[in-house]
Amino acid sequence: MRSGRFISLEGGEGVGKSTQAAMLADALRGRGLGVLQTREPGGTPGAEAIRALLLDKQYDWDASAEALLFAAARSDHVVHAIRPALERGDWVVCDRFVDSSRAYQAGGDDLSDDAILSLHTIGSYALMPDVTFLLQADGAAVAERLAARDSDGADRIGARSAAYHARVAQRFRDLAAMDPERFVLVDASGSPHDVHLRIMRAMAPLLGEGG
Ligand SMILES: Nc1ncnc2c1ncn2[C@@H]1O[C@H](COP(=O)(O)OP(=O)(O)OP(=O)(O)O)[C@@H](O)[C@H]1O
Ligand SMILES: [Mg+2]
Repeated sequence: MRSGRFISLEGGEGVGKSTQAAMLADALRGRGLGVLQTREPGGTPGAEAIRALLLDKQYDWDASAEALLFAAARSDHVVHAIRPALERGDWVVCDRFVDSSRAYQAGGDDLSDDAILSLHTIGSYALMPDVTFLLQADGAAVAERLAARDSDGADRIGARSAAYHARVAQRFRDLAAMDPERFVLVDASGSPHDVHLRIMRAMAPLLGEGG
């Protein structure tokens, strides 16, 4: 039996990660594979509790506290959900993972990438996805999607400035350039189905389909 793979979806707010994670997980289940579809921050009761703290606007976490909370949530998620799933041979589809910490906490604020990776080693065995899909779409299209989805406004991180989000997007591109073996850049424009087809085309080798 072929063992499971760990796939993450990354990119800025509203680019379609959650939509594509659900479509990818369904496609894998449709091939008879065991799938854990999960998200960060969250994915376990402990990590979901930390997520609520992170996104709540009543707190003013500074950059290092925020990075530590994300790392703690990820540790719980890896120990109690992701690693057990991979050990069972299931595939894991994760909506955001450590690259989001690298792009948001190291890219938007003053922490180094090495510091984030050290926390990841301490908390999560430095576990990395086998494949990371980086979804990219232009700002106007994303703003339209978010306006339609979030009538009650953005959360604590989503509400940060356009300049912050532009730095995050650049940082994601830098991470992809540093690790071209793992990252797949995905054009996230067009319909959800269009984007899904692009992702499935890139999945073909992993699935042993069509070369
Ligand atoms: N290709 C698409 N075309 C049009 N609308 C889309 C597309 N993909 C997703 N959407 C819609 O845009 C909104 C944002 O998508 P989604 O929630 O999947 O993004 P996300 O990357 O998970 O966002 P967040 O970072 O806030 O979690 C949703 O309302 C979703 O239904
Ligand atoms: Mg989402």
